[in-house]
Formats: sequence, structure tokens, C-alpha cells
Amino acid sequence: MVDAKLTFPAGFLWGTATSSHQVEGGNVANDWYRWEQVPDRISDGSRSGLACDWWGGRYSEDFERAAETHQNAHRLSLEWSRIEKGPDDWQAEALDRYRQMIGSARDRGLQPMVTLHHFTNPDWFAQAGGWLNEDSPSRYERYVRRVVQALGDLTAFWVTINEPAVYVYAAYLAGDFPPGSDSPADALQVMTHLVEAHARAYRTIHDLQPNALVGLAHHYRGMKPARPSNPLDRWLTAIRSRAFNDTVPVACRDGVIQLPWGRRRLEAAIDTQDYFGLNYYTRERFALGLASPRQLLGRGFYPGGADVSPEGFIANDPEGFREALQWARGFGLPIYVTENGVEDEEDEFRRRYLAGHLKELWRAATLNGRVKGYFHWSLVDNFEWDRGWSQRFGLWELDRETQERRARPSVDFYAEVCRQNALTTEMVAQHAPAVVEHLFPQDPPGELN
Ligand code: BGC
Repeated sequence: MVDAKLTFPAGFLWGTATSSHQVEGGNVANDWYRWEQVPDRISDGSRSGLACDWWGGRYSEDFERAAETHQNAHRLSLEWSRIEKGPDDWQAEALDRYRQMIGSARDRGLQPMVTLHHFTNPDWFAQAGGWLNEDSPSRYERYVRRVVQALGDLTAFWVTINEPAVYVYAAYLAGDFPPGSDSPADALQVMTHLVEAHARAYRTIHDLQPNALVGLAHHYRGMKPARPSNPLDRWLTAIRSRAFNDTVPVACRDGVIQLPWGRRRLEAAIDTQDYFGLNYYTRERFALGLASPRQLLGRGFYPGGADVSPEGFIANDPEGFREALQWARGFGLPIYVTENGVEDEEDEFRRRYLAGHLKELWRAATLNGRVKGYFHWSLVDNFEWDRGWSQRFGLWELDRETQERRARPSVDFYAEVCRQNALTTEMVAQHAPAVVEHLFPQDPPGELN
């Protein structure tokens, strides 16, 4: 193996990402709270509950740990249901609390990136039809205006909507998120409203803050045909990948929303991103399935021999990350990796995963110069949606009974990366010896390996 130091560009942002409902606790006025009360919706029967008690103020100790371990940024989200309790019922107290939260990150040298919508909707909004309602984009725009007026002096770095494609898929096709629907027509309608809402937010924010950086967090799921020579597998994979990965970013570039079952034009969405936010976790194989009617649309799986996480949720596939970064580059914008991580209570897998993915990140940041920052998911274990507390994505482990945090070994690994703004052979040899030869071979098989 070679002794190398892979240095990132100066000013690179290193942080972690969280979202309001997953960490705050006591969120009782949104659609997720209601969903959690329904038996069998959450796989382990748990609820968000007190979560990581950020609403009780524990964000400050978590930010302290992030800053002490050399992170210089944090991505967090705001809970719409706390800020607008009913239509036009604005809560100054909640906005103040967010001022304190964002201020606390800034005071510790963490640049805040603020997400305005991360999967949850206020109850009153959901009951009025949620994102199916014609008024939903203008309702959201009003909320965004209020937030930017109240918090705009603390940040100008915004994510309008987290993973619109995941939201539409989970809430309107797969039925895993509220409202638990499976209607392609509704999915197209919701997708259209989300893109319109984003475009409105983009303009509103720029009206108030001409220099703001506004984008979305796009989830890219790598998909490869299971049998590359099988035309049906290739065709299904291409359709699925286009629908899931390309629809939203293309709409925000060209103003056209194209799903396999429908098309909409939305001129207002043309060129409405200042940067490209990329969430990447894994890549799967895709094939025609015959076990159920639903599988006729294709079935995703990890190939035998894949390095799969303890819960079987994520395959460690850094090459898929390379592919995702190349794909994102095609949109011609600066790139921020707004999420990347894995569920792993024991933390062996996470360090292996981190080493391989950070090497790909370095390659992209160095070769195409457009990658500007990385937010690991997540800072501390938190409520993992329909999988409840069964999956642990935190660098810090959370004891839900005592609210105690315990550093997993990945904390030291990531801290060294952030401190040196680099990934070195030595760090990988110490934290992920199983992959050090692979990542730093003596004789690289090609340019820059
Ligand atoms: C979501 C996060 C979630 C993570 C891990 C992402 O799709 O944005 O909220 O916790 O995946 O499942």
C-alpha cells in the first residue's frame, strides 16, 4: 500500500445533517406524529417521542461535540408545524427558538445550512389535502417568506425541500409515509406542486436575500440492470432511474416534469437551483420480478457477495457514489453532498463505508473542482421514519432512556478527516484496515487509481 494524503480543496465544508422531526422531540402537530400512533406503521412499533431532545435544548451539546471534533458546518431543518400552528397563525416563540438553535451552531463555528421542508407537514395542511391541494405551493411560499424574514440574518444557505422524489414515492406510491397512498395520478400532482413550491421559494428567498444559495437535496439511488445483457432489465432500470433520480433536477433546470405516466410543463421552475444538493446512500441491481404484480415494474436487490450493512439496508458501494457525483456534475452547478451515511450500531461497517466514500468524494472534489462540502448522516442516532429506532445512523450513539450520547469510533475517524481536511492512508489503516490495501494500492491500476 502507498502512504498517501488526499487533501481536499481549501474551504471545504465538513459537517453532519439532521432533520427536525427526527431529532427535536415533542413534535405533535404534524402528519408524522399522527402516523406514528397508528399500529404497524412503524416497523419496530416505536415513536419519535422525545427523540434527541433538541427542542429541550440539547442541540447545544450536540453542536459542541460537532465543533470539538473539527466539523465546520451543520445541516438542520425547521418544523413548519411549530412555526405556523394554523393557517397564518405564526408562532414568534418557535421562530425565536430556531434563532437560538441556528445561532448556537454559528457561535461554534458551524456554518448552518437550513432545510425548510424535510418530509413532515403541519396537521392543518395535511388535513386540507396536503400537497394535493392546489393552494399548497402558495401556502408553502408564505411560510418560507416568514422564515426568511425572521432568520435571514443568520443564514443565506437554504435547502427548500428534502428529497422530493423519495417523499412522492414513499407517501404516494409505496404507502410507507403519510398519507399512505398508492396513486400514480396523485403522485404526479404532488410532484408538480412540490416543484412549483420549490420554484416559488427560490424566487421569494432571492427577493429577500439576493446573495442566497438555494437548492434542494436530491436523493440519487444507483441502479444497475441485474443482467446487463437482458433488454427487459436494462429497460426497466433506465425507466426507474429516470423517474426516480432525474425527474426533479431536470424539472428545476428545464421546467418539464416527466414521469412515465404523465408530463407537465412548469416554466417557473427553469434554472431554480444555485447549487446541487446530493444525498447518496447506495446502489442496487434491478430486474424484472415475477413474484407479485408489483414486481412486474421491477425489483431492486443487492447482489450476492455485496458488502451489506448489519440491518441489510445499505450496500457499501463507493463506485455508486462516483457515478452519483458524475451524474450530479452534469447539472453544471457547485455540488454539496447533503447526506451520506449508514445504519450501523457496531460501527465497523460505517468506518469501512466512510473510508471508501470519502475517497470517491476526494476524487470528485479534486478532479472536477465542483464539490464544495459533505454532510454525514447523521450527528447522533435519531428517529428513522417508518423504521423507527431500529436503525442507528449516528456518529454518536444515543441512549434514549438517559439522553446520554456516546461517541462511536467513527467520531475519531471523521474528526481527523475534518481537522486535516484530508483522508490519509494512516487513518484508513487505523479505522478500516480491511479496505486499506484496496483504497491505497501499491500499484494503482490507472490514473489516480
Ligand atoms: C432522509 C433522512 C433519513 C436517511 C436515512 C434520507 O433519505 O433524508 O431523513 O434519515 O435517508 O434513511
